[in-house]
Amino acid sequence: MFDFRSDTVTTPTPAMMAAIAGAEVGDSARGDDPTHNRLEDVAAELAGKEAAMFLPSGTMGNLAALLTHLRPGDEVIVEDRTHIYNSEVGGISAVAGAVPRTIRGVNGVLQPDDVAAAIKTGAVQSAAPTRLIALENTLNAAGGTVFPQETAAAIRQVADAAGIAVHLDGARLFNAAAYLKTSVADLCRCADSVMFALSKGLGAPMGSILAGDSDFIAAARKKARMLGGGMRQTGMMAAAGLEALRDPMPRLERDHRMARMLGEGLAKLDGSLVRDPVQTNIVNCHVDRFAPNAEAFVRSLKRHGVRANFARAKVRFVTHGHIDEAAVKTCLSAVEGTLTEIRDLAK
Ligand SMILES: Cc1ncc(COP(=O)(O)O)c(C=O)c1O
Repeated sequence: MFDFRSDTVTTPTPAMMAAIAGAEVGDSARGDDPTHNRLEDVAAELAGKEAAMFLPSGTMGNLAALLTHLRPGDEVIVEDRTHIYNSEVGGISAVAGAVPRTIRGVNGVLQPDDVAAAIKTGAVQSAAPTRLIALENTLNAAGGTVFPQETAAAIRQVADAAGIAVHLDGARLFNAAAYLKTSVADLCRCADSVMFALSKGLGAPMGSILAGDSDFIAAARKKARMLGGGMRQTGMMAAAGLEALRDPMPRLERDHRMARMLGEGLAKLDGSLVRDPVQTNIVNCHVDRFAPNAEAFVRSLKRHGVRANFARAKVRFVTHGHIDEAAVKTCLSAVEGTLTEIRDLAK
């Protein structure tokens, strides 16, 4: 069975297991875990920020950032399909107490003029003031596409003009950096705070990083503690995270090659399947011409040895460390077999 559901399904590499076994640990909630502390230093440097913190998940990283930037009742501008708005159990409102102001972007990309028009200063007595713009890179729902750097820079200018902050959900920021052949720090420049995941394309068993300036991270540590993010002998997981951060670009570029191979193969099977550009490690496969709901499609893929995610009439394939050429070929055969079954049924 080849598992294309997400890049979160990877199991630790032998090098990670060795790093976990050999990790020097302490009580990280008291600042005593040397490996945890080293991971935070390395992560801050990679992000080009003063400080960083290691957290159990990306959801907690985003939520700690929201709690630090916002007061209850403040508005946060988000693109309509972002993870922070759609897939984090409503924490943006339920926990941070914020009002999400959603804007539909162009292929998931927020447009600077739309952002500027949506900002409310709070000068009007009844208006909740806008205090934050939340960006995502890569754009998960749009098929792992990269947020254009010029647009991010223009949104930064809009934020500066309005005196509000920018948070970047960079769960797959290293994939964006690999695609653009630039540094992660370069992609973090547009944001005051950035979350990136160790447990997705980078392949670590758990954890995410939240980075920002020292005052912001000091405040965010308290918010994360309130959320239950004060951990103890985290050095073992931090050691796996450090291993994941050691020269990740060649591995991510390989994942992207596998995704391109899959996208090209799917387009050859039927031109309507691939409509979103395949830039990083996600391939959206639109099956609406064959099945109104992709659930049965995905069940059939499973019978052919392939697991995939779906939403409505879209199947999502994600490449990662366990996906090689043989897996891609199996996946293409599984899709071909499923399309044949559907066509036969329609006869
Ligand atoms: C874009 C994006 N942001 C945030 C998250 C949340 O990360 P976690 O699953 O570690 O909470 C995910 C998870 O898939 C994601 O895709």
